[in-house]
Amino acid sequence: MGYAQAQSARTVADFDKGWKFHLGDVKDADQASAADKDWRSLNLPHDWSIEGTFNKDNPATPEGGALPGGIGWYRKTFTVPLASKGKQVYIDFDGVYQHSDVWVNGHHLGFRPNGYISFWYELTKYLNYGGVNVIAVKVDNSQQPNSRWYSGSGIYRNVWLVTTNPVAIDHWGTYVTTPNVSTKSAVVNIDIKVKGEPDPRYYKLITTLYDAQGKPVKTASADVKFTKDSTVSVNQKLLIANPKLWSVTTPYLYKAVSKLYRISMLANEPLAYIDTYTTPLGIRTFEFDADKGFILNGKPMKILGVCDHHDLGSLGSAINTRALERQLQILKGMGVNGIRTSHNPPAPELLDLCDKMGFIVMDEAFDMWKQEKTKYDYHLFWDEWHRKDLEDQILRDRNHPSVFIWSIGNEIGEQYSKTDTVGRVIARELAGIVRSLDKTRPITSANNDPSVTSNIIASGALDLIGYNYHENEYAGFHKRYPGKKFIATETTSGLETRGYYDMPSDSIRIWPSQWDKPFVREGNNVSAYDNVRPPWGSTHEATWKVMKKYDMLSGMFVWTGFDYLGEPTPYSWPSRSSYFGIVDLAGFPKDIYYMYQSEWTNKTVLHIFPHWNWEAGKTVDVWAYYNNADEVELYLNGKSVGIKKKTGDDLHVMWRLKYEPGTLKAVSRKNGKVVLTKEIHTAGTPAKIELTADRSNIKADGKDLSFVTVRILDKDGNVVPDADNLVNFKLTGVGTIASVDNGDPVSHDPFKAHYRKAFHGLALAIVQGKELRGTITLTATSAGLAPATVVIKAK
Ligand code: GAL
Repeated sequence: MGYAQAQSARTVADFDKGWKFHLGDVKDADQASAADKDWRSLNLPHDWSIEGTFNKDNPATPEGGALPGGIGWYRKTFTVPLASKGKQVYIDFDGVYQHSDVWVNGHHLGFRPNGYISFWYELTKYLNYGGVNVIAVKVDNSQQPNSRWYSGSGIYRNVWLVTTNPVAIDHWGTYVTTPNVSTKSAVVNIDIKVKGEPDPRYYKLITTLYDAQGKPVKTASADVKFTKDSTVSVNQKLLIANPKLWSVTTPYLYKAVSKLYRISMLANEPLAYIDTYTTPLGIRTFEFDADKGFILNGKPMKILGVCDHHDLGSLGSAINTRALERQLQILKGMGVNGIRTSHNPPAPELLDLCDKMGFIVMDEAFDMWKQEKTKYDYHLFWDEWHRKDLEDQILRDRNHPSVFIWSIGNEIGEQYSKTDTVGRVIARELAGIVRSLDKTRPITSANNDPSVTSNIIASGALDLIGYNYHENEYAGFHKRYPGKKFIATETTSGLETRGYYDMPSDSIRIWPSQWDKPFVREGNNVSAYDNVRPPWGSTHEATWKVMKKYDMLSGMFVWTGFDYLGEPTPYSWPSRSSYFGIVDLAGFPKDIYYMYQSEWTNKTVLHIFPHWNWEAGKTVDVWAYYNNADEVELYLNGKSVGIKKKTGDDLHVMWRLKYEPGTLKAVSRKNGKVVLTKEIHTAGTPAKIELTADRSNIKADGKDLSFVTVRILDKDGNVVPDADNLVNFKLTGVGTIASVDNGDPVSHDPFKAHYRKAFHGLALAIVQGKELRGTITLTATSAGLAPATVVIKAK
C-alpha cells in the first residue's frame, strides 16, 4: 500500500432522511420499541412552528412570531452494517431548538438546552451492528417566551452520522492559523488532534494543502505516537510561496487534507489507511487599528455589515443552503460585506457561504448571560452550560476565514449595574474562554451602554469596543476611550414597510415620543421614506453619514439586512414580523436598499420612488438615490420639475410636487451626458400576473429552490402598487411549493399554502425540487387576471 492510495476511512453521512415526527409529548417514545408507525414521515431539517397558525395568544407572543411552540418527538430507524463493528459511530446535530434529549436504542445520550449550538454524541457501544437501531429525540420548546424573536422549533439544522476508526482525527480536531503572511509567502500552521487508545503502534499524519483548483501546493508529514494519553496533538507548518489571499472581493479558499496512516516503524511504510479530515481555509491578514479602522491584507476598508436573525422568512428556521445563499446574494448586491450572526451561533452553512462569497462575520454567542430578557430564556441554563457552549462555538467556527470577530454577547443586562461587578467577572471569564481557543480574532460585545460605566467595557476584556446605536457619540469615541478600537456592533433600526409611502417625507418621526396618530396607519404600515426610527436608533442615512466620515470607525452592522419573524416593534399584534429589514421578509428590497447600493457599490444607481398612483392634486414627495452622476432632472409628463444635486453629505435628493397622473421620469447626468433614465407610470387596474423565477434550472437533490416572484401588472405591464389580488398556485411535475409569502408583516395567512394575496403588487412562491430530474411547471391564477406560467428544470 502506498501513501497515495486512499479510500475513505471516515464516512460522514447525511442523516436527514426518513424521520418520524409527532407533535406533542408521548410517553415512552424514547424506548426503541415505541410505536411510531402512525407518526408523520419527514426529512430534516424541520421547523414545526412555521407550519402552525398565527395567534396572539401563542405563548411565544407576537415578539416571538406568534406561532406555536410545544413539545415534539423525532424518531429514526436505521441499520448499521456489520462492517462498522469496531469503528466509532457518532451522531452530529448542527442545531436543535431547543432543550433536546437524545436516545439511541433506549439509552439516554444527553440533554442540550441551547437551541443554537452544534453538538454530538457517540453511539458506538449502544448500536446493533448488522441490525436495526432507533434514535429518538425529544425537543421541548414549550416554555415560552424564551426568545425576543422567532426561534422556530425542532431539528431545524442538519444531522450527520459520522463513522471513524478508533484512532482518528478528533471531532473539530483541526485548528488552522496563518501567522506569517506576505505577498511572497505564507505559513499555514495546522494543529491536529488525533484521538485513540494509548497504543504502541506508530502512525503518520500527512497533510496536503490544495489550492482552489484542487492542485496540491505543499505537503507536510509528521509521526504520531500515543504515549499514555489517548489524544496526541500534532503541529504541522506548511510554507507556501505566492499565496492567494482571501478577501471580500476575491474569497480564495485553500483546503488542507490531513490523512492518517498506521505505519511500520522499521520500514516507515504504511500498513493501513486510517482517516482523512478536510479543513477549508483562507489566507489573509487583518487588524483593527485605533486610528485607521479595519485593515484587510494591508488595505484599510470599512466593514459594511448587516445583522440578521436565522429565520429564512416563510421557510421558517429550517436551514436551506440555497435560501441562505439567496439572502447573501441580495445583500452582496447592495454592497454588504459583513454579517453579524445576531445573537447566536449560526448554522455552519452560513459560515461556509460567507467563506465562499466573501463576508466579514461577527460570530456572536449570547443574547443574555445570567440576567433574563424573557422568562424562560437561556439565563436558566447559564451556570451549567455557558462554558461548554462557548467552547463548542469557538472550536466549530475558528477555521472559517470569514470569521473575524467574536462577540460574547448582545445588550447584556449585566453591563448596567453600578454596584454589581458580576458583568466584569463574566466578561473576563468569557474572553478567557475564547482566547484559550483562538487568539487570532478580536473579542467584542454589543453594548447599548457604551459609556465608561458599562461593566462589560470596564472589565477590560474586550479588544474592540462595540457600540450599539449612539451614532452621535462616535465622533467623541477617542475622547472617551483614548487609543481604543471601535466597531459599531449594531446600528440604525430604521423602520419601513415595502411599498407604503406617507407624506411629508422630510421630518424624522421617532417612536414612541413623536409617534403621532396620523402615521400609525391602519394595517400597521410604516412609511418607506427613510424617516421613521425608534428612540434608540437612527435613520439609515444618519448613521451612515457619521460612519463614512471617520477612518477610525472600522465598520458597522445595520439592524437588519432582512426582515425577520417576531419583534414587530413599534407595533404588536396583528403584526407578527419585523419592520427593520432593508429587505422584506419575502426578499424584496425596500427603497432604502438603493441608498446603500448607491453608496456601497460601484454599480451605477438611479432609484426613484414612490409609485405614481395618488389622488389628483395631492402633494407628493419624490426621492432619488443616485451615484456616478452630478445631478438628476425630474420630468412629470414631459415637463421638467427641476434639477437636483446632492450637496454636502446628502444621500438623496427630493422634489415636492402636485400629483397628476401620467409618467414620472428621472434622468441622471454627468458632465451633461445622460447616465441613467428611470420612469414610473401611473398604473391602471390589475390585468395580468407576471411570474419570474430567480433560477430556471435547479438541482434535482430534493433541497434546491427556485424563488418565483409574482407581480400584478396592468394591461401595459406596470406593477399595480396597491394590488392585493389573491393569487392561486398550481404546481405540476417534479417539485413542490415549499412556501409562499408577500412581505406583509400583518398577514396571518399560512406560509405553507398554495395561495397568497399580493402585497403592494408583489408575492413570492418558493418552489422546491425533488430527487427527480424533470420539469416543474408553476401556474398562477387570480380572478379577473390573465394567468401566468413559469417552467423550471430540475437536473
Ligand atoms: C436592539 C437589539 C436587537 C433588536 C433591536 C431593535 O437593541 O439588540 O436585538 O431588538 O434593538 O431595534
